[in-house]
Amino acid sequence: MLTETFKKFRGQDPFNDIYGQENAKKQILSALIMNRHIVLVGPPGIGKTTFAKNVAKLLPEMEVEEIITKKKNKLKGEERFIRIQGSPDLTVEDMIGDIDPVKAMQFGPLSIESFTPGKIFKANKGVLFFDEINRAPEKLQNALLQVLEEGKATIGGYDLDLEADFVMIATMNPEDFAATEKLSEVLLDRFDFVFVGYPESLDIEKRIVREKSEDLPEVEFPDSLLNLTLQFIRELRNNENLERVPSVRASIGLYERSQSNAYLANKNKVDIKDIIESFYSVVSHRIRLKPSVKYLMNNKDFIIKEFAKFKENFERETGEDLP
Ligand SMILES: Nc1ncnc2c1ncn2[C@@H]1O[C@H](COP(=O)(O)OP(=O)(O)OP(=O)(O)O)[C@@H](O)[C@H]1O
Ligand SMILES: [Mg+2]
Repeated sequence: MLTETFKKFRGQDPFNDIYGQENAKKQILSALIMNRHIVLVGPPGIGKTTFAKNVAKLLPEMEVEEIITKKKNKLKGEERFIRIQGSPDLTVEDMIGDIDPVKAMQFGPLSIESFTPGKIFKANKGVLFFDEINRAPEKLQNALLQVLEEGKATIGGYDLDLEADFVMIATMNPEDFAATEKLSEVLLDRFDFVFVGYPESLDIEKRIVREKSEDLPEVEFPDSLLNLTLQFIRELRNNENLERVPSVRASIGLYERSQSNAYLANKNKVDIKDIIESFYSVVSHRIRLKPSVKYLMNNKDFIIKEFAKFKENFERETGEDLP
């Protein structure tokens, strides 16, 4: 059924909320047509969650039955988006559900009334978004495997046959590959990977920032300064002294905070001072210096120094004199 839904998008771009990322879009659509489970692999803040929500929006409105009450609800695709946050203390019960002991006494342990459904059931006919799946404990990965494989789950010794038919979209941060619980090979074997990266060009990133940020209508952010700011962030992503680099959220943060700084200083236009002032609070905790550099300089000094260099080059190249 979902195959037909997604086949209709041939030749179109159904992911309106994501700018750029043509290749990832193609891969995702192709995987969805075949009802395959997807892992979006990429650094923080580059639109993975936005992507998954966009997939949910594409699903048709549908009547879904609650497993306990049998109540039927008509739900839009975006209302059938369920999120699980992968973390070491996530339990199988969070994901699949649990037997409530009080109700078990009342209705009997094998009755459906004594079962409190977990997130998987809420995702029925929708998108199950499993964020940072590689941080989930192995026990949970095994339970998930059974669900994906057999449409079945085991809770406290009981086998449950579940109707949990969903599109599964998981995420993974490549930086974490070694540091966190790895995905078991058998689970990996059930997913297709789609790689998502930083915005491909300055223009795309500018569009994201201009359109997805909060704006103060009384403060203008001149284009020349925004180019400078974003180009600086983009160059930091290639800086050889950094082992963690600023995300799109950092760009959005700078755009917003520079405006509020200008506003507080009674100005109607952002100038360079407002941008520099926002670095400390927006960028410094989002970068990590390589150990070899860390002992010589702190993050804040590093950014200010890099920015001064960058601004000079920018002015020389563009012939602009920035305020
Ligand atoms: N390519 C893009 N197109 C549109 N918006 C984007 C894009 N990349 C990032 N954004 C914007 O950046 C912000 C962060 O995106 P999102 O929350 O989807 O990232 P994420 O990859 O899920 O991050 P995390 O790994 O931290 O959960 C959102 O405001 C989103 O709109
Ligand atoms: Mg996210």
